[in-house]
Amino acid sequence: MKIYIIGAATTKFGELWGVSPRALAREAVDSALADAKLQTSDVDALFVGNMLSGMLGGQEHIGAFFAEELGLSVPAFKIEGACASGGLALHNAVNSVLSGQYTTVVVLGVEKMTDHKPEDVATALMGAGREGERLAGATFPGLYALLARVHMATFGTTEEQLAAVAVKNHYHASLNPNAQFQTPITIAQVMKSSCVADPLKLLDCSPISDGAAALIITSDKRQIIDKKPVEIIASVTATDSLGLAQRESLLELKSTKKAGQKAYALAHMAPEDIGVAEVHDCFTIAEVLAMEDLGFYKKGKAAIAIANGETTLGKSKHLVVNPSGGLKGCGHPVGATGVKQVVELVDQLKGRAGRRQCGNARIGLAHNVGGSGATATVHILMRD
Ligand code: COA
Repeated sequence: MKIYIIGAATTKFGELWGVSPRALAREAVDSALADAKLQTSDVDALFVGNMLSGMLGGQEHIGAFFAEELGLSVPAFKIEGACASGGLALHNAVNSVLSGQYTTVVVLGVEKMTDHKPEDVATALMGAGREGERLAGATFPGLYALLARVHMATFGTTEEQLAAVAVKNHYHASLNPNAQFQTPITIAQVMKSSCVADPLKLLDCSPISDGAAALIITSDKRQIIDKKPVEIIASVTATDSLGLAQRESLLELKSTKKAGQKAYALAHMAPEDIGVAEVHDCFTIAEVLAMEDLGFYKKGKAAIAIANGETTLGKSKHLVVNPSGGLKGCGHPVGATGVKQVVELVDQLKGRAGRRQCGNARIGLAHNVGGSGATATVHILMRD
């Protein structure tokens, strides 16, 4: 059975004052249905990726909550996997179609974070960490700072090379009208920005954001209007320990490696086949680790390559990474991110990404991580 993405849309990401999660969800799903030229009556099920609506907004049961809001009287599910909730929702939606249970499914990723105090958001996000890390007062910037220190000590990776990841992704975001940050930045600005968790500075971090994104997937060829539809050729997830202290190595995210290897095997592909990728850059070091763990570069080589512009739009000869601006530049409404990554790939593969179009890319990879790597999802998409 083949699974196609026939509708894809995202709202603007950012500090969206006065816009409710309901309104965000409605905008994303209505636009995705319009893209697919479908009605709500064509939909068999709804999968919602969301992490914080219970802890921050006091609203649980949000599968049914959004089904009601969207006028979908269909089975509805909330899928939670921290910042990988969106990727995990898509993975579950794909499996539900592959099982034959449903034919045409809506995948919604949605999060509203900026209405809450930053310290409450940081505490809620750390719900994705291990108890001992939480009780010790660690935050995700702190945990990724540890990963950065180990990488720097082992491979000589520099703070300037990490800063280059942020510069690239803010440049890409400046070409994306839906991105949270639309202004390019320089290495000097990153280096001068305030320290959040040494060596990570403000401009090494993804922001706190609001936003929603939606996809319509189907196995029914009659629903497809596009002559060359985008197909999901691999959908994989893997897990690792929640805590960093329980890991065999801090130089890699094992969940990413496992999910990536299985996805390439399912797709009968290798990293060299990928022309465009959206990878999880919640902090600059996270993109470096992802590029190595997904097999694009050998260990210790990704930061230099990124700093040399090898994955920058307009400079890259083969692979552009995070053309949307990534989590760093486009924003990171946690439950929406994994879905937005796939929306970006659909736009790229269909050649409708405007000023940030990456040539004629045919094959795209989306990589979404939960916490400090306890969950990873990898999706590979192809358009003939
Ligand atoms: N990148 C770029 N600019 C940022 C930013 C970021 N990550 N975060 C905030 N800013 C900007 C704001 O727009 C604001 O600019 P302005 O003064 O021109 O309006 C300024 O910096 C200060 O913003 P503020 O909201 O006061 O920042 P903060 O200190 O409360 O929060 C962080 C900054 C980095 C601590 C916060 O964004 C954060 O916690 N990020 C990580 C989120 C996270 O852990 N996600 C899960 C990943 S696993």
